[in-house]
Amino acid sequence: MIKIAFANIKGGVAKTTDTAMLGAGLKKRGYKVLLVDADPQGTLTERSGLIPESIKENANGLKYQLLDVFEGTASLKDAIVSTEMGDIVPNSLDMFVADKRFTGPSSYYLLKNALAEVENDYDFALIDVLPGAGIMLFNCLVAVDFVTIPIFASKSSVRGIKLLKDCMDEVKSSKLNENLRVLGFIVNRFNKQAKFSNQIVDDINKIVAPLLDAELFETKIRNGIALDECEYKGRSIFFHKPESKVADDFTRLTEEFLERLDKLTDKSQLQN
Ligand SMILES: Nc1ncnc2c1ncn2[C@@H]1O[C@H](COP(=O)(O)OP(=O)(O)O)[C@@H](O)[C@H]1O
Ligand SMILES: [Mg+2]
Repeated sequence: MIKIAFANIKGGVAKTTDTAMLGAGLKKRGYKVLLVDADPQGTLTERSGLIPESIKENANGLKYQLLDVFEGTASLKDAIVSTEMGDIVPNSLDMFVADKRFTGPSSYYLLKNALAEVENDYDFALIDVLPGAGIMLFNCLVAVDFVTIPIFASKSSVRGIKLLKDCMDEVKSSKLNENLRVLGFIVNRFNKQAKFSNQIVDDINKIVAPLLDAELFETKIRNGIALDECEYKGRSIFFHKPESKVADDFTRLTEEFLERLDKLTDKSQLQN
């Protein structure tokens, strides 16, 4: 199982959108994908058509969440729910206790240890990381093989990257996860007609990406209202608007994602 975190310290840069749509793209290609909602805002949970608040009420078939797995009251397998978007480990606002509750050296390995249970059951685990730099971010960075960094073509979405790099450096230098690598940057809401969009992308390519020893994905995701509709309806773009341009973008991005992984990982992991 290849584990990939979608991370950026900044919120609102399409982390959840990219996790969900790449997950759906990989699923469409026949891969077994596990989505992990590591954000207490529960946005990926919602995007998968689930209601995070149902977990507490044990309603709608939702019983457990990532917090239960971290607390040892449920196994990861117990917490997985099957949805149209794929299998998902849900999350909710309850997880906001994490920074206070999970402290000490072993708290960095909670996600890594939990994922070990399904190592042979899935081809990919895609983890939607919360904004900010607390214990959950470190759990994600310790657990994964690669980090993918979603950005908008805006100055402010680049600001969080420096802090993310510092956190990744800390994880590597303290040997929590020495092999951690950036798979690439995904540019979202790209408007190729806008001069400034191209300028920012150019700057990221030349200045920011090399700092993380990484490259932008060639495929840019254009601005697509259909993605907001997907968020609202809890559906994948491939079901909601399969003929849209933005669905084409995610299909191409999925291919590029696989090509890049093919170069960087043991090939047998990508055969399906
Ligand atoms: N390419 C896009 N075109 C239009 N809207 C987008 C695009 N990508 C994301 N969005 C919208 O931007 C908002 C923030 O995206 P989201 O994935 O929730 O960001 P994050 O997880 O980083 O906070 C959402 O309403 C989402 O539907
Ligand atoms: Mg999000």
